[in-house]
Amino acid sequence: MAKKKSGFGTNIGFELAAVGSAVGLGNLWGFPYKTSANGGAAYLFVYLACILLIGAVAMLSEFILGRRARANPVSAFKAVSPGWGWAGLLAVLIPALIMCYYFLLGGFTVKYALNSFVGNAGNFQRFAANTGDVLLHTVIFALLALAVIRSGVRAGIERWAKILLPTMLVILVVILCHALLLGEGVADGLAFYLRPNFAALSGAGVLSAMGQAFFSLSLGCGAMIAYGSYTGRRVDLLRSTAVICLVDSLLTFLVGLAVFPALFHYAAVSGAAAEELGMGGIGLLFITLPLVFEDMPFLGRTLSLLFFAMTAIAALTSVISILEVVTQFVLQRYKVFRGRAAALITGVCVLLSIPVGVSLGASLNGGAALNIFGRNLLELLDMLTNTLLMPFCALLACLAVGWKLDTAAELSRLRPGGLGQSGLLRAMLRYGTPLLIVVIELFGAADIVYPMTGGARRFSADGLGVVTLAAGLVLLCVLLYFARLRRRDTGDNRVEALLDEQEAARRLAGPERGWYREEAQVDHEE
Ligand code: TRP
Repeated sequence: MAKKKSGFGTNIGFELAAVGSAVGLGNLWGFPYKTSANGGAAYLFVYLACILLIGAVAMLSEFILGRRARANPVSAFKAVSPGWGWAGLLAVLIPALIMCYYFLLGGFTVKYALNSFVGNAGNFQRFAANTGDVLLHTVIFALLALAVIRSGVRAGIERWAKILLPTMLVILVVILCHALLLGEGVADGLAFYLRPNFAALSGAGVLSAMGQAFFSLSLGCGAMIAYGSYTGRRVDLLRSTAVICLVDSLLTFLVGLAVFPALFHYAAVSGAAAEELGMGGIGLLFITLPLVFEDMPFLGRTLSLLFFAMTAIAALTSVISILEVVTQFVLQRYKVFRGRAAALITGVCVLLSIPVGVSLGASLNGGAALNIFGRNLLELLDMLTNTLLMPFCALLACLAVGWKLDTAAELSRLRPGGLGQSGLLRAMLRYGTPLLIVVIELFGAADIVYPMTGGARRFSADGLGVVTLAAGLVLLCVLLYFARLRRRDTGDNRVEALLDEQEAARRLAGPERGWYREEAQVDHEE
């Protein structure tokens, strides 16, 4: 009974929630600008290969870890082996870091949606420099996420995914059709996007494609461990993984199909040169697209509203998965109510996003306030999480499932009827995927420490700083885990139901009955 209460209600609800987590700013904001900088379809091609060879396998591992433990990432890794729990702590720390900039970007999308009829052109720099305005919208966005998470997995995450995801899809189709019918410039946009230019794809581009695949599938930071932990045995996780990867890739592809024709149409009509389109930079979505919308003779503002509302919705269904990971851990480790845990985490992350916003605002206006290692805090966090920590964390998940567990048995439990032949999958899990991740991760770190500047590779002390910081965070997780968590009860999904029961009993019998804590401890003694 307790299990039922704290999990997803239906298969489709779970898949929608996971797709909602996957489709977010990574697809709408990150993908178009990274694709435009890295050779169009060449980048798309590598991205899709990464999803197939690395992403899908890593996702299966995370689902396996989550479902077999039915618990937060720390307990899930701990259930593999007590010496591995620090990997789970890393999987909780990463989303906390991501949240500090995801709230901020989500706030921007809310602002842009609300502001569509006034016009958003030139707003990014102006808005970014206005801390109060940024904070206001960040808080609005964070409160929306909090409201969903407070209601729990089924009544919150699942219910809202069922409403928001289809809404988003409908808007995307409308925008896509409109973009393809713009006429002038559309063919150029399609050619730019769909004709692979492998010459423009550097090693760093390949790396960015892999990071993008991780980020887009919400991998390497506990989200899929958490969502997996809420699924029952009857859910076919192999099918779900396929569905999630397919839908996420398809949506990413469609976003490009809408954005590039619109951009090139704008260039053709306004006479702007390709270099002025802001391709390859984080401003593509927030600086150039508003210009595109404002240049449209009619419907432009409505389309702007639709587009940014869609982006805000996508960001919301993603951020709730990020918030859920941390909430689940705090709830289960410290036995506090979901609402309190989520409110506390939201509050802390909103506060931390203030310096990130200030730093971004300064850098968009040519300053360097609060820069660390030569990067504004948004870039720094993005690089730390996407390029360094998330692949590492996903690697640990693959290794845990591939080497520390009875892999064949775990795989056969993926779907109700067993898996049949799983040799290939096992080989990928043990060798293929980890090897790919290690290679790409090493290249990634090398690229940060020895970046390409002016046609040659030069050592960058700042780059070394970023890599050292990432290593320091991993070390911190190891130390914290062994000092504070290894010997303690870190809880599982039953905690929430027990807390609720306790609350109900307390209401019935008056406030003195604090029996839960003792019982929970007995329950979880190692
Ligand atoms: N996948 C989301 C996007 O594309 C971001 C995201 C949501 C995420 N949950 C995550 C990234 C967990 C990493 C880990 O925007």
